[in-house]
Amino acid sequence: METKTEIEKQKEYIEKVKKINQNKKQKYSILTMGCQLNENDSEKLCGMLEEMGYEKTENQNEADLSLFNTCCVRENAEDKLFGKLGELKKIKEEKGTIIAIGGCMMQEKHITDKIKASYPYTDIIFGTHTLHRFPEDLYKAIKEKKRQEDILDIDGKIYEDLPIKRDSNIKASVTIMNGCNNFCSYCIVPYVRGRERSRQPKAIIEEVQDLAKQGYKEITLLGQNVNSYLRVEREKNIEFEEYEGVNSFATLLKAINKIEGIERIRFVSPHPKDFTDDVIDAIAECDKVCKLVHLPLQAGNTKVLKEMNRKYTKEQYLSLVEKMQKRIPNLTLSTDIIVGFPGETDEEFEDTLDVVEKVKFEQVYMFIYSRRIGTPGDKMENQIPEEQKHKRFDKLKALVESQISENNQKYIGTKQKVLVEGTSKNNEEMLTGRTDSNKVVVFEGDKSLIGNIIELEIVSEHMWYLKGVIKNG
Ligand code: SAH
Ligand code: SF4
Ligand code: F3S
Repeated sequence: METKTEIEKQKEYIEKVKKINQNKKQKYSILTMGCQLNENDSEKLCGMLEEMGYEKTENQNEADLSLFNTCCVRENAEDKLFGKLGELKKIKEEKGTIIAIGGCMMQEKHITDKIKASYPYTDIIFGTHTLHRFPEDLYKAIKEKKRQEDILDIDGKIYEDLPIKRDSNIKASVTIMNGCNNFCSYCIVPYVRGRERSRQPKAIIEEVQDLAKQGYKEITLLGQNVNSYLRVEREKNIEFEEYEGVNSFATLLKAINKIEGIERIRFVSPHPKDFTDDVIDAIAECDKVCKLVHLPLQAGNTKVLKEMNRKYTKEQYLSLVEKMQKRIPNLTLSTDIIVGFPGETDEEFEDTLDVVEKVKFEQVYMFIYSRRIGTPGDKMENQIPEEQKHKRFDKLKALVESQISENNQKYIGTKQKVLVEGTSKNNEEMLTGRTDSNKVVVFEGDKSLIGNIIELEIVSEHMWYLKGVIKNG
């Protein structure tokens, strides 16, 4: 109830800003720096901005409001943000651009301190728990002409019914839970996103039903720890309302699988520890759940995994893979790997290569370990020299790329169901879509196919995409 009143209040601020903007043709730009959750938050920010009378521009320099939705999971994003803020200084002096920064990085005190000291012309700073209050912050920044700092250190509540402007009209993301309780020792996410809390089943089901009505075909369920949906609520007896039999991640998959019009269901990012038997069975049983499963490995060595606080050994990871492969026909896997965690020896790194060789992932997202202030990993003494981390990264990359081209060969001559997403970025004459295993396929066809799932025969492979042809009959 309380959250409903809050949203009503924000809707009033939306109207107030809209009034100020009337007939002014105000434009906004947005830079989204993070993961899919961060992108989904940006869709909500865009929804609010457009209701407030702003129109989107891709050109930051012509924007009247320049918004940044930040990420802090690795270091490189910081340099990028500060660079952009530097560029905006002169433009702001000339045309009074409103500068607003939100997202995960704003939950880090050393970052907001630096912004206030070095980029004092920033108008609005807001965190991950106060996104819904953006209309109010913006109104006050305009009216009071002074910087608004709106950051909370407690876990934000879940706010339903925020306006949303989605990036696609074929695929949609639906955040089902916020926060993370795992505290992997390298990771900043639990500190900037707070503890795990799940949305009510009814709110999720209704959102997906509504998306289906609008013609969306693919749904991606999002959470920092997506397959522990409702786990904390169940374990700690926190009240939630069961709806259409949904009381866990597995039952949520089953309920969404029944929604007419939705043809594909994906989910990120899961944790291996939460792939309980019911979840594995639900993936196998639900025809719409894609058989590409993301299973973050992080490292292949048991000692390193322990130091990372990942809660599984090399052997447990491999036997989970085996169990899933047995139960889920046509399963393909993708993963995340970090190289150069503190203390990792060359020999221990070999275990990562060994797991990669054994599992033969469909896709591997590779990261060089980045020290994050406030995490246990940052305090470890045995940090790995940059050069060594890069050497390991290159070695892993070479292995992954050779596996990908080998794996691509297997597609040639096969028939694949492809969801057609639009025209190809590089060639307007061609269409592009994705297989169940999330491989990009480029092919010739009529634009009327966009938004449909069609069958293609794969004729060639080009490392990061496949080429297909439509077979008649
Ligand atoms: N909750 C998700 C995703 C977290 S962030 C999960 O557990 O999989 C996405 C990825 O970034 C992580 O899986 C990890 O591989 C990588 N990552 C997180 N912290 C990192 C750090 N400090 N340095 C390098 N990579 C990191
Ligand atoms: Fe970070 Fe680990 Fe949580 Fe993923 S599970 S967000 S890697 S702490
Ligand atoms: Fe980055 Fe925050 Fe996502 S730190 S990876 S944007 S949860």
